[in-house]
Amino acid sequence: MRVDLDPEETGRRRFYAALNSVVVPRPIAWVSSLSADGVLNLAPHSFFTVACVQPPMVQFTSVGRKDSLNNVEATGEFVVNFAAEPLFEQINATATNFPAEISEFEAVGLTTEPSRTIAVPRVAESPVAIECTLHTTLELGDSTVVIGRVRHLAVDAAVMVDGHPEIRLLRPLARLGKDEWSTLGEIRSITRIRHSDWPGHYKPPHS
Ligand SMILES: Cc1cc2nc3c(=O)[nH]c(=O)nc-3n(C[C@H](O)[C@H](O)[C@H](O)COP(=O)(O)O)c2cc1C
Repeated sequence: MRVDLDPEETGRRRFYAALNSVVVPRPIAWVSSLSADGVLNLAPHSFFTVACVQPPMVQFTSVGRKDSLNNVEATGEFVVNFAAEPLFEQINATATNFPAEISEFEAVGLTTEPSRTIAVPRVAESPVAIECTLHTTLELGDSTVVIGRVRHLAVDAAVMVDGHPEIRLLRPLARLGKDEWSTLGEIRSITRIRHSDWPGHYKPPHS
């Protein structure tokens, strides 16, 4: 038996709560941006993923109109800072709806670090910064998808092992439903099976 939820019949709030609890776990983009007046902003966005491989692009979604979206539209730039476990409380604190003239960096006690390719600074405490310029925005109902072209990727050498960012050192946080967040659990590795190696796969003679 299943419980059925029809988006047309279920209220917006309840459907959102349910959808948000089943599209999990979600990585968190900790987005820094600058207003047209130069006020620095920082806010977490868990509707976040890679949007394109070549050219590299990432995307996050603003539900409604928020300072991050206004800033990205005004300046065309933003940084996605990595949401790492030791920054749990600070990341949550930057989701407070501070007025636009207050910088979450100051309110929460975080340090800025200059970016390489854009004017928006990075969060110095975060192990990874993805510097982006605005590619496009896509308005969808009550939300706006922000797609950014990745101009630079800066990774703390302390989390690199053999030239790769190491997951156990990165310690990502993820967002679940309700007020729940998660940390890394068990990590499993498995290689993809090519069809030609699939058990019982028909192999023509002399192949
Ligand atoms: C972990 C986490 C993830 C969030 N993800 C989103 C999101 O994907 N989209 C969104 O609009 N708001 C999201 N929020 C809420 C915003 O961070 C919050 O509204 C914030 O005040 C927006 O800041 P701004 O107005 O400075 O841009 C999230 C909050 C938390 C704590």
